[in-house]
Amino acid sequence: MSKKPVVLVTRKLPEAVEDRLRRDYDARLNPDDRLYTSDEVIERASGADAILPCHTERFSAQVIERLPDSVRAIANFSVGFDHVDLEAAKARGLVVTNTPDVLSDATAELTMLLILGAARRASEGERLVRSREWRDWSPSFMVGTQVTGKRLGIIGLGRVGQVTARRARCFEMTIHYHDVRRLPPEHEAGALFHETVEDLLPHCEFLAIHCVATPETHHLLNAERIALLPDGAIVVNAARGSIVDDEALIAALKSGKLTAAGLDAYNDEPNIHPGYRELPNTFLMPHIGSATRETRDAMGFRALDNLDAIFAGREPRDRVV
Ligand code: DGY
Repeated sequence: MSKKPVVLVTRKLPEAVEDRLRRDYDARLNPDDRLYTSDEVIERASGADAILPCHTERFSAQVIERLPDSVRAIANFSVGFDHVDLEAAKARGLVVTNTPDVLSDATAELTMLLILGAARRASEGERLVRSREWRDWSPSFMVGTQVTGKRLGIIGLGRVGQVTARRARCFEMTIHYHDVRRLPPEHEAGALFHETVEDLLPHCEFLAIHCVATPETHHLLNAERIALLPDGAIVVNAARGSIVDDEALIAALKSGKLTAAGLDAYNDEPNIHPGYRELPNTFLMPHIGSATRETRDAMGFRALDNLDAIFAGREPRDRVV
């Protein structure tokens, strides 16, 4: 019987995914779900054929350079791959894969939660009820922003963006979008294309960020661009924190330029900018866009499908490098 490939799994994965890992691989699991340092990842990868990490482990050029020679692939348990230096991986001959599609519904659901939570002041309301500070009902109490019928701008009408657009249409929202190129009509589904982010922003009563985090999109939402949004707009981000300039967003939330923000992704997670916590008009979630039982299983199986292909000498479905 041939030896099973050795796979280092950096985080605790769903039961069914770990069962399949144990069945098909010589799996080095992390039952305590401890966050490994880069040095620990490198050490534990000794003799491993592949690593199955999450976005919580960073594979910088320096880390990739120090990985044991035995490692052939990084099969991410994530759609995002901004935690991997792709150039360095390519130079080293590593195969890198991700898990697209399977988390689009869950992330779009969470985006709708951010839109609704920010617009209807869900954090403030919940705090009032839990702290017993809720006194009475009045016509002027906890008045928020109606979502139904508003204009939603989406930066990045990819897989998640398109599902968000579909869900938002149930709220009779009109969809505007910017992407690097215009999508075919069947993917646009009536969404109005804008050539540049600058063209899009003045139309956005709500803005949802769904683009990929790259050097080009770093701090894409900065003070100059926020100024182009209509006064009172609401911004939500379930993609990556690096796309937003925290100082600029916080200043706009403080000044009243923006009514509210709903965030699930931050710079330097989990040590987020303290300004977000201090503001009443932020609705904050701890990076849980894909955190449903169904989706986490599907992400694990998709990562394993990719590994299976790599070790069977086939092209993995979700190769990014
Ligand atoms: C993703 O898949 O990119 C999610 O943000 C979790 O990493």
